[in-house]
Amino acid sequence: MAECAHPTLISQKKLDRTFSVAPMMGLTERHCRYFHRLLSEHALLYSEMVTSGALIHGDKNRFLAHDAAEYPLALQLGGHDANELAQCARFAEKSGYQEVNLNVGCPSDRVQNGRIGACLMAEPDTVANAVKAMRDAVSIPVTVKHRIGINGRESYQELVDFVGTVAQAGCESFIVHARIAVLEGLSPKQNRDVPPLKPAWVYGLKEAFPDLDVVINGGITSFDEIAMHLDKVDGVMVGREAYQNPYLLAAVDHHLYDSASPMPSRRQVIEQMLPYIEQQLKQGTYLSHITRHMLGLYQGVPGARRFRRYISEHAHHSGAGIEVLLAAADQVEQVNLRQGP
Ligand SMILES: Cc1cc2nc3c(=O)[nH]c(=O)nc-3n(C[C@H](O)[C@H](O)[C@H](O)COP(=O)(O)O)c2cc1C
Repeated sequence: MAECAHPTLISQKKLDRTFSVAPMMGLTERHCRYFHRLLSEHALLYSEMVTSGALIHGDKNRFLAHDAAEYPLALQLGGHDANELAQCARFAEKSGYQEVNLNVGCPSDRVQNGRIGACLMAEPDTVANAVKAMRDAVSIPVTVKHRIGINGRESYQELVDFVGTVAQAGCESFIVHARIAVLEGLSPKQNRDVPPLKPAWVYGLKEAFPDLDVVINGGITSFDEIAMHLDKVDGVMVGREAYQNPYLLAAVDHHLYDSASPMPSRRQVIEQMLPYIEQQLKQGTYLSHITRHMLGLYQGVPGARRFRRYISEHAHHSGAGIEVLLAAADQVEQVNLRQGP
């Protein structure tokens, strides 16, 4: 089981934003985060975005549910109403999260219609008011994740003005996806790939605001890239690569924090996951809802495809249990035994 630090101990020390795993709807839910925590003791983990409306009017307990083993952990909110967001920030703090983050980067039509996400880059004062209200409501850090711009507001100066306005409201940490969002004509998926990355703009923000924590996000896939960015900014946030190749988390932890002790093997990580899975199965969770996040564990290793295929074919059967994962790991080991050292 992951070491579980007491939440108040974590909140008393400054959150380490050197390396974080990005919030991803449909992916970074609690089982995924538990798994990621086994791979990295230090990464700051983020929830999926939950809108203020859903949290206030919906099943609060379900949206906030997490395991203390996931700490340090941030709740990401979507919304624009300062009072609602302040209320949600209180929920987050009360239920143990160590940070509350406002999503100002999501470009989807659905969230735009609710004045949520990247469209708020055109409303720096709205974001600033929301940040101020949240800061007044809680003592955990309030951070903002945003783009370098949106279509029609694409200049570097507008980015600097946005960050300056929001910083004046008390936001000290900015996570910057280093590409603009195009709010008409591109899908959310295209908006994560098509607009060009401009990391130099994020480095520029750090130079313009040396006292702020600036975290860069977007298109980062290797430890070498992470190390390069860390020369210029305070932190790196990785999304898709962390999900598709989660063993990267173990490598980052090892290289950034603890090169003296050995990295856990993939098999060890699976074994550490088993007590959690058994406990979840007893509560009625389907095995496949947990193992779907583990499919990429052997990415880049001979036998990775067999691991994925074995789990995909067996984890959804009724009554499937931890034996599926162990058998899948055996499949990889057989391939590697045959190939020799
Ligand atoms: C499936 C998926 C869902 C996402 N959901 C969110 C979200 O809920 N909130 C958010 O701020 N960003 C979301 N993102 C964007 C990521 O947090 C990140 O900014 C983006 O993927 C770029 O980083 P990457 O190139 O390392 O993946 C999502 C990305 C993906 C792939």
